[in-house]
Amino acid sequence: MTKQLQDIFKGFSKLSREERLNALLEVGALQSSDVEYLSKGGLRDTSLGEKFIENVIGYFQLPLGVATNFRIDGKDFVIPMAVEETSIVAAVCKTAKWIRDAGSITTEVVGNEIIGQIQCAKIKDFVAFEKQILSQKNFLIEVSNREVAFGLVRRGGGVRDIQVRRVPRGDGTDMAVVHVLMDPCDAMGANIMNQVCEYLKEPIEQFTGEKVTMCILSNLVDSKITRSTVHLKNIDADLAEKIEEASLFAQQDPYRAATNNKGVLNGIDPILIATGNDWRAVEAGIHAYASRDGQYRSITRWHRDGEGGLKGIFEAPLIVGTVGGVTTLHPTAMMCMKMLGTESANDLSRVIAAVGLVQNLGALKALTTVGIIEGHMKLHTKNLALGAGAEEKEIPMVQKKLEEILAARKRISLSNAIDVLKELRAGQRPKPSTPQHHS
Ligand code: MEV
Repeated sequence: MTKQLQDIFKGFSKLSREERLNALLEVGALQSSDVEYLSKGGLRDTSLGEKFIENVIGYFQLPLGVATNFRIDGKDFVIPMAVEETSIVAAVCKTAKWIRDAGSITTEVVGNEIIGQIQCAKIKDFVAFEKQILSQKNFLIEVSNREVAFGLVRRGGGVRDIQVRRVPRGDGTDMAVVHVLMDPCDAMGANIMNQVCEYLKEPIEQFTGEKVTMCILSNLVDSKITRSTVHLKNIDADLAEKIEEASLFAQQDPYRAATNNKGVLNGIDPILIATGNDWRAVEAGIHAYASRDGQYRSITRWHRDGEGGLKGIFEAPLIVGTVGGVTTLHPTAMMCMKMLGTESANDLSRVIAAVGLVQNLGALKALTTVGIIEGHMKLHTKNLALGAGAEEKEIPMVQKKLEEILAARKRISLSNAIDVLKELRAGQRPKPSTPQHHS
């Protein structure tokens, strides 16, 4: 019988790196060429970097890990995460296991269109401007699709709508903003959207007699929302209440909301990076969406279901691509995409939304029970040992001692690690030998 993904999840973290690679190879998540590529240290040839940015001097290497235990919409995933922060991967795997055993994760994407903006900063007559644009709407859509977005149209997407918004200038007058709504299919769509908006500049100026000031896509894509839901059927009543309270805190207080959302992004950004997606765009969209009613709020909500369970919802724009850009050029991103096995951009965004929500649950559980330090610092002991200058063979001993200090004092720092290492080395120094007398 061939091994399934779930067969390798148990004890995965205890394996050596080589064993992990072999396990992923065995279940088909990686190919032997991927294992060879990773074993040799991944991308080294800087000529690809030169294609992406200017003034290249090398690559910045981030650790690439995998999140296990995820079953999303009834399907198992092994999820690549490129991130440097200790305990993110461990926490998300542990929380995913909890949900796998006691609940479910479901996801959906609501809406298809991304948004582009064309600004006319100083207009003579907003009502006339709006009337003109709306009367030419079908033409503007048709000409954009014919002249610019024809590739998308072939794939079932393209420009779908044109809208006009009145935006106050703050001095009692208004500016006009034309919104272009476009289905980007499996692309993130930034380039094509910007091209469409710039193409429309001329006809808009001709039809309205007004001047276009600038054209650019919007990252606040409230027309395409990804939703993930975690449902734990059975949960300790006290814990459920605490998580609900923590969620209310993040809903009502922007100071807490920022930290809560950072924790959600701990799950989201690493997948965006691993798959070559624009994490700044997603972050900007999520934060803007979190402030949509005028106050910055949590993008996750948790509440008890009234039947002894707990339900959590993540809802935000999560615009990603599976074609074009870094995703299809960077060999590590390509490998990660294969490992994930998500066919479409929507499927990728659903997985990402699920991981963000699960990461949030892990953080809220820790925060409302043992506190964040325990798990985090336990894993952080290795970094501290390394920071103190411990050699590979000394690390386990330093870590053990640091864990003892942590258990006793509830905190540890780099200076503890330095002291522990000093003591360890002093203890291991050969004692001055007593002279041997030979008769
Ligand atoms: C730390 O990287 C993330 C947390 O602060 C998230 C949260 O507070 O919910 C633990």
